[in-house]
Amino acid sequence: MTQPTTPQANDQSPTTPRIHWASSGGFILAAAGSAVGLGNIWKFPYITGVYGGGAFVLVYLGCVLAVGLPLMIAELMIGRRAQENPVGAFQKLHYRGSPWQITGWLGVASGFVILSFYSVIAGWALAYVFESLSGFSGAAADIQAQFDALAGSAPRSAFWHTVFMALTIGIVMGGVRDGIERWVKILMPGLLAILGGLMIYGLFFTDGGSQAIGFLFQPDFSKLSAEGILSALGHAFFTLSLGMGAMITYGSYMNRDSHIVRDAITISLLDTVIALLAGIVIFSLVFSYGLEPNVGPGLIFHTLPVLFAETGPWVSVPFFVLLTFAALSSTISLLEVVVSYFVDERGWNRKAATLVMGAVIYVLGLLSAIAVLKVPFRGSEQGFLDILDYISTNYMLPIGGLLTCLFSAWIIKDQVRREEFGSAGLAYKAFVWTLRLITPVAVLIIILHGLNLLPFVE
Ligand code: PHE
Repeated sequence: MTQPTTPQANDQSPTTPRIHWASSGGFILAAAGSAVGLGNIWKFPYITGVYGGGAFVLVYLGCVLAVGLPLMIAELMIGRRAQENPVGAFQKLHYRGSPWQITGWLGVASGFVILSFYSVIAGWALAYVFESLSGFSGAAADIQAQFDALAGSAPRSAFWHTVFMALTIGIVMGGVRDGIERWVKILMPGLLAILGGLMIYGLFFTDGGSQAIGFLFQPDFSKLSAEGILSALGHAFFTLSLGMGAMITYGSYMNRDSHIVRDAITISLLDTVIALLAGIVIFSLVFSYGLEPNVGPGLIFHTLPVLFAETGPWVSVPFFVLLTFAALSSTISLLEVVVSYFVDERGWNRKAATLVMGAVIYVLGLLSAIAVLKVPFRGSEQGFLDILDYISTNYMLPIGGLLTCLFSAWIIKDQVRREEFGSAGLAYKAFVWTLRLITPVAVLIIILHGLNLLPFVE
């Protein structure tokens, strides 16, 4: 193994030239775009519904603060300091050949896996923009069968997955500034405008607004379960795009004069507020029609379209455009992690790396698009989409997050960490000790839970 003797090998100086975001606002939009995705608009409302509302939301907010925010700061630090892709970054901040590079590898692998199935779900969202143009009508069972026909049809799911991957590849091929940054400047304001409009509709034009607010913000702790607490913790990871090097990669394009802590707070806050707004919109609709909030993953594609039959396309089309925009600004960050590795470490040119790796991920995604393709997994026959989702959320992201946390808490030089943090006062000490003790314990709990090693959770 190479020893850390040559100056370049152990060079922690932030001088390597690299393309940077054109503006700090562009970076915030890109990182918030990565964070805000299906996790906010599809998953957060449905798990909040399943785990009983207010008390779950409170625990989730605690997880974002104790686990999400420190890890977000840590990933941005690693990226900006190293100015490299995740595999290179862990070596650069330790030494060439350091075993910590495994964390970067795991991140690149997570990019492959998550993007492959995420694009299939995102494809359904895009398909539903068009389906809802002509409006939903008929009995509830028919409207629900309409979704099963899409998700159950391999050619149709594969078609929309193809379109979505092509969009993602097209944007990432354009590069950091002319592709990603340019597009998030359109997608994110569009997303906020639509969400704002839908929230006004939900709060003031349906009868469910105040009930939705009560459900989300009045905690009833009798509904809280151990399982709910662990889901809140796992979701904090997924929704903030942590544990797979996405924030390391985006951080590596940050300028020295940007303010990591302030930016991490802004990104986490945006992600949280958008999830809560999506919750208000969806539960306003659900309650205004007297439905139960706890239907699970089908909330968006099964339950909402039945309600959209009443509201008309004026609500449903913007809703699915919102979902598509949110997903697209996330998929580009997933692909960028993979591309940055091939560009930095293997010397590929960006266009070739994007096309070739995008194609490989696309083919892997076809497995998830073919719903009838089932294999034995954890005691039952399951489709690839569910299996890959399960493995990445329960193992890959938490393990990647734990390693990133330990690396930034115990391995990086204190001076480097302090410089990147921007101060050495009380806030810095609180950050370091949270990262050293609280965050790793919380993450370890998620991993043990994934392995079914926690006896007190049924
Ligand atoms: N944060 C995204 C969401 O909430 C998902 C994601 C995870 C994106 C990891 C990039 C990296 O949908």
